[in-house]
Amino acid sequence: MIGVFDSGLGGLTVLKALHERFPGHAFLYLGDHANVPYGNRSSDEIVEFTRAAVDTLFRRGCRLVLLGCNTATAVAARRLQQVWLPGSGWTGHNVLGIVAPTVEAATQTPWAVATPQYPQKYNSDLIAVFGTTRTITSGVYREEIRKRCPRVEVVQQICAHLAGAIEDEAPESILDRLVKDGVDDLLAQTGGNPPHRAILGCTHFPLVEHLFRRHLPPFTRILSQPEVVADSLEDYLARRPHYTDRDAGTPPLQVLTTGDAGEISTRARVFWPAVPAFGHALVPRP
Ligand code: DGL
Repeated sequence: MIGVFDSGLGGLTVLKALHERFPGHAFLYLGDHANVPYGNRSSDEIVEFTRAAVDTLFRRGCRLVLLGCNTATAVAARRLQQVWLPGSGWTGHNVLGIVAPTVEAATQTPWAVATPQYPQKYNSDLIAVFGTTRTITSGVYREEIRKRCPRVEVVQQICAHLAGAIEDEAPESILDRLVKDGVDDLLAQTGGNPPHRAILGCTHFPLVEHLFRRHLPPFTRILSQPEVVADSLEDYLARRPHYTDRDAGTPPLQVLTTGDAGEISTRARVFWPAVPAFGHALVPRP
């Protein structure tokens, strides 16, 4: 069983793509609605919330957990992989983030190749990245893209209140205004030049992709993070089939929240009618 974690509803955009891609695999989702949004929180809080959630998913039988959250990936993934996991006692378990597959897709360069390669080193595209405060200030997208494609220009834009507004079910007019402001601010940074590609670097943002499409120049292609994450996981699992070899007999889709299960079930069905009812999860924190 594979765990998928997000601060709230956003990771469901990733879960849905994975469920559709791997109908025979079992997925367990955990949304930390008790603490959403993460995007403007301190690094220590994000690391601690993410660690506790991953630990909970491991306890419930997942051997692989995917952080379906850019903020948790940008801030916590490396610390969990390199510091916490080796000493945690969870031998044979692993944690993956979603920045690596997104950078791979944006640069058309495998993650393991962290230096410029021909012909990518001649790539001089303009790439836009929209994200939460913590994801953008971490600089991870700019740094990892430019390692592989030093001539690519990466323009980053914080959308500080968008994930929270999506979680709060803000009216479409407010969401439209937040997206338009983000796109206008980004285009002010580029001097009006349209980016070649846009990364919606927050898993909540695909829920308002139609608004990004409305306000971004028609020239700009929006990279679908849920799809590139599914592509990457397909490749990863093909080389490590043991993570899913006990899935037979396990329900293909289970969803949990640290918030109010009834309320979250209703909200989640608005954009994914087939999602099962949420259960409540207690995530012990120290
Ligand atoms: N969906 C998350 C992300 O991909 C976090 C949004 C938030 O909680 O601020 O960044």
